[in-house]
Amino acid sequence: MYAISLGDGAELRPLEVWHAAELLANIDRGREFIGRHIGLADVVSDLEGARGWLKSYADKRGADAGSVHGIWLDGKLVGGLLFRVWDTPSGVCEAGCWLEPDAAGRGLVTRGMRVLLDWAFEQRGMHRVEWYASSANEPSINVARRLGMTREGVLRENHPHRGVRASTEIWALLRPEWRAAHARTAHSDH
Ligand SMILES: CC(C)(COP(=O)(O)OP(=O)(O)OC[C@H]1O[C@@H](n2cnc3c(N)ncnc32)[C@H](O)[C@@H]1OP(=O)(O)O)[C@@H](O)C(=O)NCCC(=O)NCCS
Repeated sequence: MYAISLGDGAELRPLEVWHAAELLANIDRGREFIGRHIGLADVVSDLEGARGWLKSYADKRGADAGSVHGIWLDGKLVGGLLFRVWDTPSGVCEAGCWLEPDAAGRGLVTRGMRVLLDWAFEQRGMHRVEWYASSANEPSINVARRLGMTREGVLRENHPHRGVRASTEIWALLRPEWRAAHARTAHSDH
């Protein structure tokens, strides 16, 4: 099975149905932190929920309509990255992420997302990667900013979550912007 090193003992690997127990343990360790702004913690409430959610991503993968990838730190599943939406004909996809709290603050999501962005733009020919985050989710908005995304707008009070109507910020990165940023990095390396 492939594993891509993210440095500092972290690896990006496919997250599959047989990881359900590991996923449940990851969510259990971060349930309150992960559930603050997104529904994942509520969906993965038990082993059956974990299996069902992973199966839905296996189905998406089979249809080339999305994917989920785990982040393992020193052999423990600590979070993941996903393409919740993947639409090859339009060249548009939507990415997302989660981490348990002990794995946050190390750049794991930013580093992992750069690997997936490169794959999406350069290998899969995507044109636009979107990032939806609650306006109250500052760490997620900071990830979008670190990835070089542009804030395009706000869907006001569109997301009822745990009894509160949250607003959603839309951030996005286009392939020419990704390439220009890479060209600048390569130039400054010389
Ligand atoms: C969103 C979430 C994944 C962000 O986690 P994060 O650890 O802040 O993000 P990263 O992994 O990119 O790490 C960035 C942090 O590591 C630091 N860092 C350390 N080394 C780094 C490196 N090599 N590269 C980038 N950042 C690095 C950064 O300074 C930053 O810390 P700061 O925010 O204190 O400045 C996390 O808050 C989370 O899981 N939240 C719950 C689920 C959720 O809301 N998901 C988002 C859905 S839209």
